[in-house]
Amino acid sequence: IDWAGASRALAEWYRENGRHLPWRLTADPYAVWVSETMLQQTQVSRVVPLYLAWLSAFPNCRSLAEADESAVLSLWRGLGYYSRARNMLASARLIVSAGYDGPPNDQAFLAGLPGFGPYTAAAVRALAYDEPTAALDGNLRRVSSRLTDLDKDPALSEGNKVCQRAVESLMKFQSPRLLTNALMDLGSGPCAPRPRCLLCPLEPYCLARKRGTTALRPVRRAA
Ligand code: ADE
Repeated sequence: IDWAGASRALAEWYRENGRHLPWRLTADPYAVWVSETMLQQTQVSRVVPLYLAWLSAFPNCRSLAEADESAVLSLWRGLGYYSRARNMLASARLIVSAGYDGPPNDQAFLAGLPGFGPYTAAAVRALAYDEPTAALDGNLRRVSSRLTDLDKDPALSEGNKVCQRAVESLMKFQSPRLLTNALMDLGSGPCAPRPRCLLCPLEPYCLARKRGTTALRPVRRAA
């Protein structure tokens, strides 16, 4: 794969076609953490108003750390999965106790926070700190499975590594923050489960497209 060409095509496409979403106006690690946590099990259109209301009530990590659980849970209403809100409160307190203003760019520290799985930690590092780290959610797994024509389940260890390497290869050439957002928009647009390859900037680079296997990717079972 011509990673430089693919990366450039994706960046150009994003500048024209990227979605304008409120959390893309900031690189504040705390705000990125809030939005990525909300977006994990809730769709974008439902998250937007609740994200804005949350940031008005708790504009920074310290204000969250000092909040009562009842206030936190009431702002989470509408998002469901309340354990996410409880974990955010516990993590905010740990972050502030450790002397940080927000989630730091420290993988080991992030991995020790409740609610910070590999996705959330990678998303904060890529989107807030512009680190070349692959934040693999379902969308990025599908996009990278198709791009590399991966014949394994991208959620299992071997396939996951291939996807990680593909995203990191793109990140050698363009900003990790920009590419992460661009790949998310490909995954919800041209490279949605039902693909529209003629709208896709990676069409010339995509191995599944070249081999006619797009509908077979991602592979869903162990392989
Ligand atoms: N889904 C998860 N994170 C997202 C983001 N930052 N923008 C749009 N959709 C997302």
